[in-house]
Amino acid sequence: MIAYLTVEKFLPELLKELKNVRSVHGNLVLTDGPIQNAVWAHNIWLNAEIIPFESITQAAKALKGLGKLWTHYSFENHRRAELIQDQLPKLRPRVMDFLGELPKDPIGAWTLLDKNTLLAASETNSPFPLGEVQFNENKETPPSRAYLKLWELFTVYGVRPSPGQRVVDFGSCPGGWTWVLQQMGCEVISIDRAPLDEKIARLPRIRFMKTNAFNVKPEDIGAIDWFFSDIICYPEKLLELVKNWQSSGLCSNFVCTIKFQGKTDFETLAAFQGLENSRIQHLVHNKHEVTVWIRKSSA
Ligand SMILES: C[S@@+](CC[C@H](N)C(=O)[O-])C[C@H]1O[C@@H](n2cnc3c(N)ncnc32)[C@H](O)[C@@H]1O
Repeated sequence: MIAYLTVEKFLPELLKELKNVRSVHGNLVLTDGPIQNAVWAHNIWLNAEIIPFESITQAAKALKGLGKLWTHYSFENHRRAELIQDQLPKLRPRVMDFLGELPKDPIGAWTLLDKNTLLAASETNSPFPLGEVQFNENKETPPSRAYLKLWELFTVYGVRPSPGQRVVDFGSCPGGWTWVLQQMGCEVISIDRAPLDEKIARLPRIRFMKTNAFNVKPEDIGAIDWFFSDIICYPEKLLELVKNWQSSGLCSNFVCTIKFQGKTDFETLAAFQGLENSRIQHLVHNKHEVTVWIRKSSA
C-alpha cells in the first residue's frame, strides 16, 4: 500500500487526483496499487503496512524492527502517539542551508489508525520529516519570502541554473527570486510592472525592465537558458506565455508558479501536465499555487 500525505487545505485536491483510494485518515490517503503522480502530496509513504498492537512498548518495538529513524503524523490519539514516538530514537532537526547536501539517512513515517493499529512505512519519498523541509532562512536580504520556493526547488529537487547562465525572471517584484538567481551567478533580466526593491536593483548582473510581461516578445530578449515566472495571473495566461516562449525556440528550461485564484483550475493544471518533460509539485513553500518545471531533457 502507498499513502500520500498533504496539508489540510489541499486534501480535496489530493483526493481528486488519486485513484484506488482505500481509506482517508486525517490528511493521509491510503491507496492500493502502484505509485501515482501526486502533485499535492508533501510526503509519500512507499511501503505502508498495517500493524495491530496491544501496548505502547509493543508498538515501538514493531517500528524499531522495521527501521531506525521515525517521524509520526498524528490526526487523533495524539497522546498515545507521543508516548510511542518517545520510545523511538530521537530525530535531530534537519534544517537545511541553501544548496546544502540532502540528509542521507532515510526517515520512516507512521500514524495511529486507531488506539491499537499502526500504519507504518520505513520508506518515504523525502529525507525530511513528513516531507516538510525547513531552511535556515535569510531574514535580512531578500525583500519577500517568495525566495524560499526557489531555495526548495534548487536544494531539494536539484533543479537549478548554473553560474553565468542567462535567465529571465517574470513578475519579479519585490525581488526575492531575482536575488536568488543573482546569488547563483546568473545574468538576470528581471521584469515586472512594479519596481524592484532598491537594494536588489543595485546588485550586479541584474537588468530590470519595468513593463507588462505579456507584452515582452521572446525576440526582444533573445536566447535565454531559463525562464522563471512568479507572475500573479490566471493559469491559462501563464500557459499561453510558456507556450509562446517554447515555440520561439529561444528557451528550453522553465520554472513557473501556477497561481490559483478561488478554486483550483484543474483543467489548466492538466494542460501543464501534458507539456513534454513537465513536472508539477505543490512545494512545502507554495501557497494556493503549484510549481511547474520543464527541462530540456526529462529531470
Ligand atoms: C508574487 S509577486 C512575485 C514575487 C517575486 N517572485 C519575489 O520573489 O519577490 C507577483 C508579481 O507579479 C507581478 N505582475 C502581475 N502581473 C504582471 C504582468 N502582467 N507583468 C509583469 N508583472 C506582473 C506583480 O507586480 C507582482 O510583483
